[in-house]
Amino acid sequence: MKYENMIEVRDLSATIDGKKILSGVSFTARRGDITVVIGGSGAGKTTVLRHLLGLYPLTNGYISVLGKDISSITEKEQNKLYLQTGVFFQNGALLNSMTVGENVALPLVQHTDLPESLIREIVLMKLGLVNLEDSFNLYPSQLSGGMLKRAALSRAIVMDPPLLFCDEPGSGLDPLSMESLDYLIMNLKNRLGMTIVMITHEIHTILRLADKIVFLHRGNSLFEGSVEDALSSENKDIKDFFSVVNKRKQSPLQNNSPESNL
Ligand SMILES: Nc1ncnc2c1ncn2[C@@H]1O[C@H](COP(=O)(O)OP(=O)(O)OP(=O)(O)O)[C@@H](O)[C@H]1O
Ligand SMILES: [Mg+2]
Repeated sequence: MKYENMIEVRDLSATIDGKKILSGVSFTARRGDITVVIGGSGAGKTTVLRHLLGLYPLTNGYISVLGKDISSITEKEQNKLYLQTGVFFQNGALLNSMTVGENVALPLVQHTDLPESLIREIVLMKLGLVNLEDSFNLYPSQLSGGMLKRAALSRAIVMDPPLLFCDEPGSGLDPLSMESLDYLIMNLKNRLGMTIVMITHEIHTILRLADKIVFLHRGNSLFEGSVEDALSSENKDIKDFFSVVNKRKQSPLQNNSPESNL
């Protein structure tokens, strides 16, 4: 793989149902980085992610994912990209009728010809990465909110995607569970070299994880750069965003083993 930017977005504009949603969004996500997309509610963050996933037709601008211009890829290449991309969305619930193990195995069952015994081994390993190996035979209704999030994360990475998209992964979690989830996501970057594009409103998550910030405002990317530069930006909209999220600040970080708290 020659490309350094796993994602490149240039001048992305989008009108959905007659409404202008995005107007000139540009940014890149570098290989091995965690790129955090921030901005107020309705700024267009999820819409950008949906474009990256090919869920909306690209009518204006340029998007490349894993070095491929998505406007000119074949259906076969699109399917391959889909398999190389893990998706961890806020409401990406597990299927209640299946055990955790079966849920996590689902992408492997659907998209590979691997024997059952190997699938089981891979699933156990992926559940182990999120400290849920003991939940293999449990049903989603038997898990806590934080455990459900971790199970969904392990399903998102079961195919070993080089790229992971997260849309507000920690929403609904208490600060300690959120810290643990951040820690797991950090591990995916550090241990597996995953490139991650994440949307979050959580200031602690931003500070802990972001290699780069992309700030969206009313469908426009106003800023792309380091956390430090974002925090010291003189732009009024960026300052307003940080002053609002700072007001929602939670209790200070804990030093005791975060992984055990989810
Ligand atoms: N399918 C759709 N049809 C019409 N309008 C849409 C659609 N999806 C999103 N929008 C509109 O696009 C704008 C951006 O929505 P989007 O979901 O991308 O915001 P967001 O930045 O993810 O916000 P939040 O932080 O609340 O999740 C909103 O005004 C929303 O109402
Ligand atoms: Mg959203």
